[in-house]
Amino acid sequence: MTQDESKRKAAEAALEYIKDVSILGVGTGSTVNHFIDCLADFNLTQDIQGAVSSSIATTERLKKIGVPVMELSESGNLDVYVDGADEVNPLKQLIKGGGGALTREKIIAGASKEFVCIVDQTKTVDILGNFPLPIEVIPMARSYIAREMVKLGGQPIWRENYITDNGCEILDVHNMEIMEPLALEKAVNNLAGVVSVGIFGLRPADVVLVATDNGVKTL
Ligand code: A5P
Repeated sequence: MTQDESKRKAAEAALEYIKDVSILGVGTGSTVNHFIDCLADFNLTQDIQGAVSSSIATTERLKKIGVPVMELSESGNLDVYVDGADEVNPLKQLIKGGGGALTREKIIAGASKEFVCIVDQTKTVDILGNFPLPIEVIPMARSYIAREMVKLGGQPIWRENYITDNGCEILDVHNMEIMEPLALEKAVNNLAGVVSVGIFGLRPADVVLVATDNGVKTL
């Protein structure tokens, strides 16, 4: 199975979790794009009253298949949030933000009862950090945060010519072996100028659906 086929399998498996859900949280990325395609392919768009989207790209895609997109402030808290991840550890803690939407993803994850994470098996790791850790920063703080991340043992690279949906910038921090995800998440959150860090440890996934060659496994 190709990686793309695996992503589709994980996306299909998430449909089980959205039965009877009227307003859905929807993340960002190629795996989520498969999930949105599945909503259309299985004629589920009629059953959904609306969705709260984590990015402009996802919003456009949802609108194309006829799903109304709502603001989180009007929807209130959500029952289910479906999103992908860049890395997943056995505790269902994640690195996210490869697609740059980490802040909105974190907000929706925080406001959702159940976070269903869909990945192919290449995303599972024992220790987070092989994937460069994205940090969204206020532009003025970029170099300062980069220096602070060097002190924490990483090698930050500015994602050049990239502006987030919130008008901010991203540092991708390489070579972090994240032994204590919660402690690092808190430490980075506390740096002035950080909008959010791509460690989802304080609010991990509740369910992770991992597509493997032997079927979809549930963590
Ligand atoms: C978007 O900002 C990310 O958090 C995505 O969830 C993550 O990058 C996974 O993307 P793919 O599904 O494209 O691998």
